[in-house]
Amino acid sequence: MALFASGNGTNVQRICEHFAAHTSIHPAALFCNNPRAFVLERASELGLPSIVFTKKELADPAFMLPRLQEYGTTHVVLAGFLAQIPGYLIKKYPRRIINIHPALLPKFGGKGMYGMHVHEAVVRAGEKQSGISVHLVDEHYDHGQIFFQARVPLAPGDSADDCASKIHILEQTYFPLVIEAWVKGLDKPVFPVLNQVETEYTQTL
Ligand code: GAR
Repeated sequence: MALFASGNGTNVQRICEHFAAHTSIHPAALFCNNPRAFVLERASELGLPSIVFTKKELADPAFMLPRLQEYGTTHVVLAGFLAQIPGYLIKKYPRRIINIHPALLPKFGGKGMYGMHVHEAVVRAGEKQSGISVHLVDEHYDHGQIFFQARVPLAPGDSADDCASKIHILEQTYFPLVIEAWVKGLDKPVFPVLNQVETEYTQTL
């Protein structure tokens, strides 16, 4: 499994911890398009090799594919990756690339909708709930088949930061489990592994 990330890397860290002792699923390398991202420091602490690339290199199959193959990549997980995935990668890994989005798609998705921008938009719209969506990646931002969502209520006075904290807990709780179900489910005749989790926010979740 190759992990693609651009920023802080809390999801990468959680995924690595979850799969540390797994018998068949292994995070093999971090692919990062931002040389200043904190996720690179996390990867180094975790002993996860990292590959940093430019926009031009991402667009170039001759650069990316050998590097993905070098790590035996069969699946790609976008864990806070903020650039668009080029078509050749989607063709190379059909239904084998997933993304996590910090809102209940199809609302609050699309270009420019990432990180705090999403939570600010959710709060501005007066939403009574938010959540996470995990979906297959196609050539449009936040567009492929959604196969997992988890929801959390928002209170009337919640700020974008409050919303971000609630979403962070959902991501830390569910994303590794969803990745595991996706990898295993792909080998079964029925896909998607559809799941909807309603969750009440608690500090201990
Ligand atoms: C996460 O909340 C993830 O859902 C979001 O970026 C954050 C990365 O946090 N992804 C998107 O907004 C994609 N459109 P992290 O770097 O701490 O894992």
